[in-house]
Amino acid sequence: MNTTQALTGDEVGILLAAAVDAPSMDNTQPWRFEVAGPVIDVKLDEDLVLPAADPASRAVRIGLGAAAFNLRVAAAMLGHESTFAVTPDRAEPDVVARIFLTDRSSPITELSCLYGEISRRHTYRGPMLDHAIPPMVISALTGAAEVEGAELHWLDDDATRKLGQLLHQADDLDLHDEDRLRERSRWVGCERPHDGVPDTALGPMPTGPAMIRDLAAGFGPPDRDSAVFGPQPRIAVLSTEIEDERAWVRAGLALQRVLLTATSSVLAASFLNQALEHPGLRAQVRDLIGRRSWPQMILRIGYPAQAEARTGRRPWRDSVDRIGVEP
Ligand SMILES: Cc1cc2nc3c(=O)[nH]c(=O)nc-3n(C[C@H](O)[C@H](O)[C@H](O)COP(=O)(O)O)c2cc1C
Repeated sequence: MNTTQALTGDEVGILLAAAVDAPSMDNTQPWRFEVAGPVIDVKLDEDLVLPAADPASRAVRIGLGAAAFNLRVAAAMLGHESTFAVTPDRAEPDVVARIFLTDRSSPITELSCLYGEISRRHTYRGPMLDHAIPPMVISALTGAAEVEGAELHWLDDDATRKLGQLLHQADDLDLHDEDRLRERSRWVGCERPHDGVPDTALGPMPTGPAMIRDLAAGFGPPDRDSAVFGPQPRIAVLSTEIEDERAWVRAGLALQRVLLTATSSVLAASFLNQALEHPGLRAQVRDLIGRRSWPQMILRIGYPAQAEARTGRRPWRDSVDRIGVEP
């Protein structure tokens, strides 16, 4: 393996365009990037945190981990090996992940195969088809989380029903929390070409009881479409053994590996994280998965039954602090 001297401008464009396609809570895109030769830093943008819903910046770090995973996938597609450090330097607390690229000889790796899924993946909040996910696909998704050091717990019917009650309580708490409502309305609803979650990506309102998260609850457009949500889709909880800032970034890498693997099987996911944004309810979700690990994301996974709406992104250049590349 050779050391990569520096990236070309074209390579930087491909890498950072992939990074910003990652999911982030409320699509705030809370990242900044710095490229120095073959090293890419993923930094936390303090102006894009969500103090009311995410006071510890746990979700922010999950989004940054997902962006770092996309960088690694794009690097693999371009023929680079990558090594990875989480919070590499105490002197630079805003650097959440550092990726070192080196050249490699073999063209195809398992990571590069996921590159095509990056632009296909998006959060899908509509009804799912009544098709069971084959056991082979379930184990591929579970394995994807494990490769990144996380766990994916598939809830059975009883645990899913209990989770439904917790979601209900979380929705109720959120509706009575003015700070959260104000914060979310800054990012959710209306037309939003470059960030936030536009009306078109909110998904329809269910005609009956359904396990969803309505991101615009309390302030959303009155004329939303409605749809029958049908039977329960599968719910999986992504968790980490450790609960600290590094583990949150690791959870983001695992999340994105799971999501890209799901996309490659034509599956779609949305998130029911309202129950993780209140410590008391999060503790009860932890009970549901056996108390050994910390729940980081709640995924609702299935085969989408409707056309898919997308969120926008800021141009990747707007999230760059510095680029040092080959002339
Ligand atoms: C840490 C994290 C938490 C999220 N929580 C929720 C959630 O609770 N409900 C939801 O519908 N979407 C949630 N999302 C999805 C984001 O809203 C979504 O990624 C963002 O709007 C960008 O859209 P995209 O995923 O379609 O590219 C979350 C994403 C991340 C990374």
